[in-house]
Amino acid sequence: MNKERKLIIAGNWKMNKTAAEALDLVRGLKLELANVKEVDIVVCPPFTALGAVSRDILDSNIRLGAQNMSENNVGAFTGEIAAGMLKEFSVRYVILGHSERRQYQKESDALISKKAQAVHAASLKPIVCVGETLAEREGGQTEKVLETQLRGSLAGLSKDQMVETIVAYEPVWAIGTGKTASTGQAELAHAFIRGVLAKMFDETIARRVRIQYGGSVKPSNARELMSQPDVDGALVGGASLEVRSFADIIRNSI
Ligand code: 13P
Repeated sequence: MNKERKLIIAGNWKMNKTAAEALDLVRGLKLELANVKEVDIVVCPPFTALGAVSRDILDSNIRLGAQNMSENNVGAFTGEIAAGMLKEFSVRYVILGHSERRQYQKESDALISKKAQAVHAASLKPIVCVGETLAEREGGQTEKVLETQLRGSLAGLSKDQMVETIVAYEPVWAIGTGKTASTGQAELAHAFIRGVLAKMFDETIARRVRIQYGGSVKPSNARELMSQPDVDGALVGGASLEVRSFADIIRNSI
């Protein structure tokens, strides 16, 4: 597939896989995907599996991501994980502001922007998630919600940092529900997001930022989604937990 930006397809394993199970999965992926150069491949295991996965993918084309990070560098923050700790495992990407954390941990755009700045200060790359709920979509609020989340979560980033930031559009109603946004709905939202980035930064920056789609991505819908001009990759939940389905999503996207 001829794309303006290199595709980036990441597996968000959420709270799944022990370290031993993670190792099984990533070994399978390494074998299946060894020859893929056209796509940036990322896996985001839970913190407890980062060490095992990190050692196993050293000489592979698979890169490591974390699912969250503290906005603080060190100190009395029980249960939190800092950038320096992630870097020890060669983590390159950090998912921020996933809708599950916005919902269950009450993460705000202001907090996500602090985290995004901490991620960049450590020379890591944030994957910043935005997306509307079903009620917001049905109420005609999609664009307003996306713009508010983008302006809040990306506040304080420089142009150089924005280019190294990935945005993930994840409509909440499509996550884990089997309901995928239609390719038209996805492209419309992605083009809108790129337009907001152009207003916040500039056209050149907006054209360089990669925007992933997330929400019930499967081998059967990956190709059509990835063929949209403003869709530059995927953030995959459920289908990233099996070698076959994640590998097929990547192969079908090339
Ligand atoms: P599903 O692919 O399971 O719908 O999850 C999407 C997601 O939340 C990825 O971050």
